[in-house]
Amino acid sequence: MEYPIQVLSLIDDIFLLLLALTLVAIAIMYVIDVRQTTHAVRRNYPVIGRFRYLFEKLGEFFRQYFFAMDREELPFNRAERSWVYRAAKGEDTTVPFGSTRDLRPAGTVLFVNCPYPTLERDAVEPGPLMYGPYSRQPYENASFFNVSAMSFGAISAPAVRALSSGAKRAGCWLNTGEGGLSPYHLEGGADVLFQIGTARYGVRDHAGHLSDDRLREIAAHEQVRMFEIKLSQGAKPGKGGILPGGKVTEEIARIRFIQVGQDSISPNRHPDVNSTVELLDFVAHVREVTGKPTGFKCVMGTSEWLDELCQEVLKRGIESAPDFITIDSADGGTGAAPMSLIDYMGLPIRESLPLVADTLIRYGLKERIRLIASGKLITPGEVAWALCVGADAVNSARGFMFSLGCIQALQCNRNTCPTGVTTHDPDLQKGLVVMDKAERVYRYATTLRKQVGVIAHSCGVTQPRGLQRHHCRIVQSSGRSLPLDELYPPPPATPPVDTVAAGGR
Ligand SMILES: Cc1cc2nc3c(=O)[nH]c(=O)nc-3n(C[C@H](O)[C@H](O)[C@H](O)COP(=O)(O)O)c2cc1C
Ligand code: SF4
Repeated sequence: MEYPIQVLSLIDDIFLLLLALTLVAIAIMYVIDVRQTTHAVRRNYPVIGRFRYLFEKLGEFFRQYFFAMDREELPFNRAERSWVYRAAKGEDTTVPFGSTRDLRPAGTVLFVNCPYPTLERDAVEPGPLMYGPYSRQPYENASFFNVSAMSFGAISAPAVRALSSGAKRAGCWLNTGEGGLSPYHLEGGADVLFQIGTARYGVRDHAGHLSDDRLREIAAHEQVRMFEIKLSQGAKPGKGGILPGGKVTEEIARIRFIQVGQDSISPNRHPDVNSTVELLDFVAHVREVTGKPTGFKCVMGTSEWLDELCQEVLKRGIESAPDFITIDSADGGTGAAPMSLIDYMGLPIRESLPLVADTLIRYGLKERIRLIASGKLITPGEVAWALCVGADAVNSARGFMFSLGCIQALQCNRNTCPTGVTTHDPDLQKGLVVMDKAERVYRYATTLRKQVGVIAHSCGVTQPRGLQRHHCRIVQSSGRSLPLDELYPPPPATPPVDTVAAGGR
């Protein structure tokens, strides 16, 4: 096919024009780069230096595909993420050839199989566990794996909707996080734990104080089953929640009772909770006003206060105890937090969970106060470890984010999440199709619970809650592994406090 001469000459002209424009742009960038004083690389390597930023940015997306090995990345490596993705998609979760997990490093968790594993016909489903036997409306739930606190604000409306529907089908509870109760939390019908953050979003009056009327309104929703007072979060103990202004939409501002477009920063603690005594008073007040089980969430740092709390509970009577304590890990996730706190502050769950479980056992309160653990417990092995140590249930945030399609692009604080999980940009949210992702949430939760059952049966017990410390060993620096019950011998217990119909593990 022949082009007329005029067309060819037009293409020539366009090409020359584009070339000239490119050269002019490069010349302008060159001048800008050599004259600016903030970026040394661009000053020393004008124009070319700019590619460094581009590659750094693209590296966040691509290194996981091209360069990182299966067990290399943090916070979650490819093996862990792939397990969640496959479980969520309902794909085969078996792997070929052999384990890529190095079983030698100190800290490696191993379970001890029994010569006579539980036969399928003898396996049972875990029964319901009661929370808050002394509250007016105790709560029963059988799921030992649930959706951890993530506020509407930190995550998007479609993400909350998918979690709500998926959690309902899987029988899990859904924690609102500190951003208040949105219609999306209720939409799918799941049991809801309402979290009271330090800013009391959703239950505050005009001056920011706790409003009993608002508390009663929230508690009037039958779906809202328990209340969790947030003392601290693993990723940022000593710092309140941060929702960058870019993510404070009109709807979020209305639910939280704050200004549109302004950073939403919670105080770094409840201003009126200064001591163990005041903490127990606060728990009692919320439980009295709402009639529902009430507990608190924290990350452990110092631990003497927990002894004080148990002693105060025994002094007041066991009805006064928090109905549950959620222990978060220092390496827990967040929408946004300062690196100084994310990287350095608080104890990891491996250390804090045995410490808290033992304290509760020592004071005979282990049956009365339910123990919930969170922090990178997203695969069956990690959840089984927590049950062995003494957790009654495990919460996960990022495990469920992966089930929603999160690719660990690490932009949760910028409103540019490429998978729609943590952005309020409607264009980006289009990728998250609620009903499809709800199905994945359901499959992830149920497959995980099933696989913890498989570990339990291999250990010779009939169900996950039968797992005990002697079923789990930890590899030491010598290369030998030791059982958890030797590493953390059960403390001499005060006889367990009689708990009304607390229900067994
Ligand atoms: C996006 C995001 C938002 C979160 N928001 C809250 C919150 O509002 N309140 C809270 O107590 N924890 C919050 N967390 C912490 C989680 O509930 C959880 O404790 C922590 O991430 C550890 O669980 P994981 O390792 O399974 O993510 C958030 C975590 C993420 C990733
Ligand atoms: S994909 Fe979205 S939710 Fe996942 S880490 Fe990246 S920004 Fe955060």
